[in-house]
Amino acid sequence: MNKYFFTYNDVHNTLRDAANTIKSENYQPDYLLAIGGGGFIPARMLRSFINRPILSVALTRYIDETGSAPSDQPVRLQWLDNLTDIKGKKVLVIDEVDDERTTLEYTLNALIEDYPETEFSALVVHNKRKPKKGQLPAQLAHFFVGKEIEDYWINYAWDADDIDSFGV
Ligand code: G4P
Ligand code: MG
Repeated sequence: MNKYFFTYNDVHNTLRDAANTIKSENYQPDYLLAIGGGGFIPARMLRSFINRPILSVALTRYIDETGSAPSDQPVRLQWLDNLTDIKGKKVLVIDEVDDERTTLEYTLNALIEDYPETEFSALVVHNKRKPKKGQLPAQLAHFFVGKEIEDYWINYAWDADDIDSFGV
């Protein structure tokens, strides 16, 4: 089975290129918003190029705390707090991989529903070229893809056990 190994440096370079694309399109988000857990590290890496505060949401596939009830739909584990006013602002939502698109569809639709006066865009580090189960909402202002890839399993550096032999 084919696999990708994306090192920290690979992801850094992909995000630097994506940041250049974002800047060349004159898109200037007010906030970065990580979809945890996969979006946390990419959002922080992107902040080195697009210096905006990072917000986050967290989802789970499990409804109860015993983890015994997997759901088709992601469930909100943590959402935006009401201290941060994103009304009228531009928010760039970040995740590491667009696989079946379930997470993006759910998260973006929920954000648009909760914050109708906010402009949402999204960025994924990697987009797998494959038929998607989910759809991007029409209201999405921009969709940025760091790198288009084949439908192979990705190993990210931050998932490694032995980091010194990662990808070698
Ligand atoms: P999507 O909606 O984000 O496209 O992903 P999907 O639900 O299809 O995938 C379910 C989970 O599997 C997601 O994690 C996604 O990030 C992860 N995933 C999909 N393909 C790969 C891959 O090639 N490599 C790795 N390492 N992960 C992959 P999640 O439920 O969002 O969990 P979390 O890690 O974000 O907490
Ligand atoms: Mg995720």
